[in-house]
Amino acid sequence: MMINLLLLVALVPSAALCQDLEARTLGFFTVEYPAFTSVIDLADTPGLYDLFVTTFETQPNTTDEVYAVRDLAAKLDNVSAITTELVTDEILYPNEINLVPEEVFGTPDVLWVASGFFVPTKNDGAVHLLSLQYGVPATTVFVTDDPVPWYFHRADFLDMNGDGLIDIVSARCNVTNHALMWYEHPSEGDPHKQIWKSHHIVDGPDIFFRIHELPVPGGSTRTAIISTQYFTQLLTVTWTEDENGLWNDPSKIYHRVIDKDRGNYFDLEVVDLNADGNLDLLVSVNRQSNGSLMAFEIPADFRVDEYKPHTLGDGFDGVPLQGSGSPGSPVSFYPKSKPSYVKPEIILSGDDDGNVYLFTAEDDKDPSNWNYAYDSIFAAEGIVGTVSVKDVDGDNYEELFIPAYSQDELHIMTFAP
Ligand SMILES: *[C@@H]1O[C@H](CO)[C@@H](O)[C@H](O)[C@H]1NC(C)=O
Ligand SMILES: *[C@@H]1O[C@H](CO)[C@@H](O)[C@H](O)[C@H]1NC(C)=O
Ligand SMILES: *[C@@H]1O[C@H](CO)[C@@H](O)[C@H](O)[C@H]1NC(C)=O
Ligand SMILES: *[C@@H]1O[C@H](CO)[C@@H](O)[C@H](O)[C@H]1NC(C)=O
Repeated sequence: MMINLLLLVALVPSAALCQDLEARTLGFFTVEYPAFTSVIDLADTPGLYDLFVTTFETQPNTTDEVYAVRDLAAKLDNVSAITTELVTDEILYPNEINLVPEEVFGTPDVLWVASGFFVPTKNDGAVHLLSLQYGVPATTVFVTDDPVPWYFHRADFLDMNGDGLIDIVSARCNVTNHALMWYEHPSEGDPHKQIWKSHHIVDGPDIFFRIHELPVPGGSTRTAIISTQYFTQLLTVTWTEDENGLWNDPSKIYHRVIDKDRGNYFDLEVVDLNADGNLDLLVSVNRQSNGSLMAFEIPADFRVDEYKPHTLGDGFDGVPLQGSGSPGSPVSFYPKSKPSYVKPEIILSGDDDGNVYLFTAEDDKDPSNWNYAYDSIFAAEGIVGTVSVKDVDGDNYEELFIPAYSQDELHIMTFAP
């Protein structure tokens, strides 16, 4: 006992002993083919967090489901007993799900789901709105008017034409065509019961993108849409130079390559990673047997200057375009239990490689140090979907919600000791 303790003290710096996050399992429950997760605080139950999970089968002619687990905090002490509530089984191949900001409709508790993929019978995707106002199962609304099949993976919300109504921005793709689009919020009638007119912004973006207001020299800002172009293997940014920030005049829209030649850019976040006060891009890149997690420093003028790249980790194993590639989506978060830390921690889904990784900055204070320590904190057989990170029970330690897609299991871990 004494010897063990001495060894520990000798080997591990004491600061690391009390500061490092350790994830431990709280168990798992069964969900068939869990893929994307979101933890959401609905207005009808303020302060209580619910889990939403999309699921899809790759067999043609099967149905797919979206499930919810309400009030997670009340269920953490017996995770294996958790049962799911069906939200909808009307959407084929549902991908990402999240909350529509309340200002879009002036009503709370509307969710969006993006759907569709290569699978026969499931390739006619859309952006859907699910109103939970009348409880679950919710009624699905198909908002997109595209005449031919497309796949959608993410949606975001922005008033694109300055009419005071907030529109939907999404990327759509099929095998050969890819485009950033916006869908116009109908000015008359119930927007939940109508088709939203489509507008093409630019070719290239296909799966994931983020919208962010970025500073430009002179003190003003531009709204930027940063896209990980998976199929065309480019990281790009799209913005408008319209003086009112509008997107309906194509001659004022600009599109620029930030980075290329690294593989299939997969998913991204916009976050200040090195705590220097400037935003960075956190980007996962698929590449056969050597996927990577990258950072790109957003320069003083994002429209013209070079973005400086940094590799945070590489060697992630998976084959792009077979299965889903590796690694998957990164999630940055500021651990509540490390209040003095200034750099976020990162959770990375390994996707195809079956792991979940935790990245911790080697030096939390030095903005010039981009080194990270990282390790697998969870290993599944087969594919892991997108992980959600949230302290749902208010004990100051985040919980992790991990969809083990190939095992039909949803695992919950916590950083609480
Ligand atoms: C799906 O089901 C329909 C109707 O039963 C059938 O005509 C079609 O061939 C099936 N498609 C596939 C890909 O199995
Ligand atoms: C967990 O829930 C199951 C099913 O309701 C029950 O059989 C079991 O006793 C519970 N375990 C604990 C530790 O409460
Ligand atoms: C993709 O969409 C374009 C535009 O509608 C269409 O011309 C093309 O045939 C589609 N490709 C596939 C493989 O479905
Ligand atoms: C993986 O790619 C990086 C460049 O991103 C390279 O430096 C590294 O040597 C590669 N590793 C392997 C095992 O191929």
